[in-house]
Amino acid sequence: MNEPEFSLKGKVILVTGAVGLIGQEVCDAYAAYGATVIAMDNQADALDGFIETLNIRYPGKDLCAMAADVTSDASVTNLFQRIQAKHHKLDVLVNLAAIDAKFDKGQKEINLSRFEHYPLELWERSVAVNATGLIRVTQHAIRLMLPAGSGNIINVASTYSLVAPNQSLYQIDSDASPVFKPIDYVGTKSMVPNFSRYVATFYARDGIRCNTVVPHGVFNQHSKAFQDNFAKLSPLGRMCELKEIRGPFVFLASNASSYMTGSTVVVDGGWTAW
Ligand SMILES: NC(=O)c1ccc[n+]([C@@H]2O[C@H](COP(=O)([O-])OP(=O)(O)OC[C@H]3O[C@@H](n4cnc5c(N)ncnc54)[C@H](O)[C@@H]3O)[C@@H](O)[C@H]2O)c1
Repeated sequence: MNEPEFSLKGKVILVTGAVGLIGQEVCDAYAAYGATVIAMDNQADALDGFIETLNIRYPGKDLCAMAADVTSDASVTNLFQRIQAKHHKLDVLVNLAAIDAKFDKGQKEINLSRFEHYPLELWERSVAVNATGLIRVTQHAIRLMLPAGSGNIINVASTYSLVAPNQSLYQIDSDASPVFKPIDYVGTKSMVPNFSRYVATFYARDGIRCNTVVPHGVFNQHSKAFQDNFAKLSPLGRMCELKEIRGPFVFLASNASSYMTGSTVVVDGGWTAW
């Protein structure tokens, strides 16, 4: 991707969920392609440490940390005031911040990860971050992009916005109580591709594009048993390497994707192809 249309020089890019697994890699890729990166996350300490490391790796680049919580109106308003004051514009927003309800293995009497027992408080918690938080940040970004007459939004869904989880993927310990992929992640991620289409068509004539990336199974120190189970279900027969997520995010943020809006870029090793 050395052609000039892939360059991100001069672009101000806000990445939410920046200290997460994918967030760190995407921020690194954007810095490598010359962007001004604003790394945002609600883990303030981790964010400071991450941006310090990124600045050492890419000296002389404009890379900064701005902590904020997508569930708080006041926090997101303050974030955009800081962006406006420092950069006076926002070219690209990447919405990566999200949560995923976690359950302990070996639950005894009632398996809370089963749909019929799943606690609705967990649903509400995920909705606040993955759905309402996504809408909140996007609204603020669009208010900044509209007067500029240009903007680019990248939302991040999951294969579980396209297909149901194959629950057998998560059942690797035959002796432990099985843990199922719960409905909060599946439900909140399912709205993302159509939310992107909504925003894309609403603002298409205002110069604002909006697309979705669908990652799947990015390797993060998963157990050998999980990797083997994943490999059996995956057409490519393996999990996604972290570096393989860089290209789609750089492409969508760059002018090379200028005719794309409302689209869904699936990066799943063929998971949804069969
Ligand atoms: N890792 C994968 O294999 C995979 C697969 C499909 C989709 N995704 C999606 O990609 C995105 C990133 O995934 P990841 O694996 O890097 O997740 P992650 O959990 O490592 O990172 C998510 C980040 O969001 C931040 N965050 C959570 N709540 C927040 C809030 N209220 N305000 C601000 N920041 C908040 C967390 O602190 C964390 O740093 C998510 O939207 C996820 O659904 C990931």
